[in-house]
Amino acid sequence: MLTQKEFITMSLDLNLFFLRIMKEHSFFLEIGFTPRDKKMAERAGDFRQKFEQLLLDATSLANGNVSENLLGSNQATTQYTLEAERLTNFYTGIPFNFSLTRREEALQPAGIGSPGARLEDAVENLDRRAYQLTGELAAFKEQLLESVRSCKMFTVNYPLLIEHILREARHFMNMLVMLVRREPTDSPEELINQEAFWNRQMAEHAKFIAGLLDPSEEALIETARMFGREFDALTAEADRASRQAMNITRITEDSIQGTERLRDFKAAGTQGLLECKIQSIIIPLLGDHVLREANHYLCLMGVCGG
Ligand SMILES: [Fe+2]
Ligand SMILES: [Fe+2]
Repeated sequence: MLTQKEFITMSLDLNLFFLRIMKEHSFFLEIGFTPRDKKMAERAGDFRQKFEQLLLDATSLANGNVSENLLGSNQATTQYTLEAERLTNFYTGIPFNFSLTRREEALQPAGIGSPGARLEDAVENLDRRAYQLTGELAAFKEQLLESVRSCKMFTVNYPLLIEHILREARHFMNMLVMLVRREPTDSPEELINQEAFWNRQMAEHAKFIAGLLDPSEEALIETARMFGREFDALTAEADRASRQAMNITRITEDSIQGTERLRDFKAAGTQGLLECKIQSIIIPLLGDHVLREANHYLCLMGVCGG
């Protein structure tokens, strides 16, 4: 059972990370449609704006109440986020709330002392609104995936990417349910599930990067494919461990080591995109997005900002 303070801090940490992720998923979907499916792009744009509003609310609540770990781990924003948003805005014309990003960068951590029942109510309300909106976005992703898989619709987003971001939405919703029930999301059993989940996501990030690089970027493609294979193996190990309730210390160590190397690869890639040194069809914000997901995963495994 979580204490009031744990509930507040864990909820704010989770929302600051995932609401930005959901806002960006909406954006990736929005720019992927053909002119025929303008209505779908508009719906995705609505989601983007609604998630941005929720992220604004979360940021207001988070100032002075968020954990040191969240702030030190570069999972809400990174050193590249603002630049990636600027360049992505330049390429697409879609507006980004830069001042929100700056506000997140300036957040202050929780101090000592009790936060109070009013804040607890406001945070629980945020959790519930996040759950509701993410549920609606998940339904939209599901419908889109079905249309794409059955060849009724074309988008420039890979079907596996749509499935991937649907999985992240459901994962966020599961975490919110646990928090609202005041259940800890960082128990040893939960960590095994998180590793099985995030190792798969890391494998897929590597595969998306390999597929979106220009075919002339052979060395980078080869490195990305190598990460894909490495994380497929780590996913299989974590899956086995979660089924058999095995000790996962060694898998965790391997996952940390692999994720740190993949994180560095993503960071270098994002920087290369921002400096126009890499040829690809990767929208710059996607580079920063998958970098933040690696940072989030590392923090779950106990390496916050390492
Ligand atoms: Fe994502
Ligand atoms: Fe992802």
